Amino acid sequence: MIDEGRSRPTVLEAHGLVKWFGPRAALDGVSIAAAPGERVAVIGPNGAGKTTLLSILAGIQRPDAGNVETGGQRVGWVPQQAALYGKLTVAENLRLFARLEGRDDVEQVVERMLDQAALGDRRDDPVAELSGGNRQRVNIAIGLLAEPRVLLLDEPSASLDPRQRERLWEFILALAERGTAVVYATHDLSEADRHANRVLVLADAELVFAGTPAELEQAVGGGLRDFETSFVSFLGQLGH
Ligand SMILES: Nc1ncnc2c1ncn2[C@@H]1O[C@H](COP(=O)(O)OP(=O)(O)O)[C@@H](O)[C@H]1O
Ligand SMILES: [Mg+2]
Repeated sequence: MIDEGRSRPTVLEAHGLVKWFGPRAALDGVSIAAAPGERVAVIGPNGAGKTTLLSILAGIQRPDAGNVETGGQRVGWVPQQAALYGKLTVAENLRLFARLEGRDDVEQVVERMLDQAALGDRRDDPVAELSGGNRQRVNIAIGLLAEPRVLLLDEPSASLDPRQRERLWEFILALAERGTAVVYATHDLSEADRHANRVLVLADAELVFAGTPAELEQAVGGGLRDFETSFVSFLGQLGH
């Protein structure tokens, strides 16, 4: 079994997470850890358990077994489906979420989030009129509301075009540079390869690989050009 739990300084550690939905395990003994500034990609096919893992780390769902340690720190959560109000402006959405968080310095928090997400010039635009890329930045700004030391993102670039993706990654990588641990789910192998320092592969509820992108390339073999194909046969060899 691959155990991602480690002894070096971490801002997030989870051990032996198990989650059942009826007779099926969505997670079957998965451990994960993230250090400050680290960028961890969780990759795997649809249905592998990525969203279940992240939502348990975010405290949205409870595991049936295992535990999550964050040292009492808040964890930022950016779900795949943003819960934004299209008719409200960017600033109004941020204000609403800051209130829901129970912040008593709402206006200051909103200004900080607009600044962090570089959305100042869009503050008075209704969210429904934003591009997918900007809407995703609002979503991330909300995830950053509590100034978390760990930000969890579920397939953050899934609905974006290549240029929007690049801008989104610049933004996410800058957060990591400043020390935020970033854990993101993706099924885009190149996004794991390019942006992560560490990659975890989930397949059928189990962690089947943990290592650097270079180590994954080595384990998968076949070179990056045919990486998708090689990755599928790599999972096949492991019985997935
Ligand atoms: N709320 C739920 N009720 C029942 N089954 C679920 C629920 N959420 C996820 N599952 C199942 O758990 C497995 C993992 O799902 P998920 O974590 O969404 O995978 P991924 O994000 O990797 O696509 C799938 O088989 C999915 O159908
Ligand atoms: Mg998912």
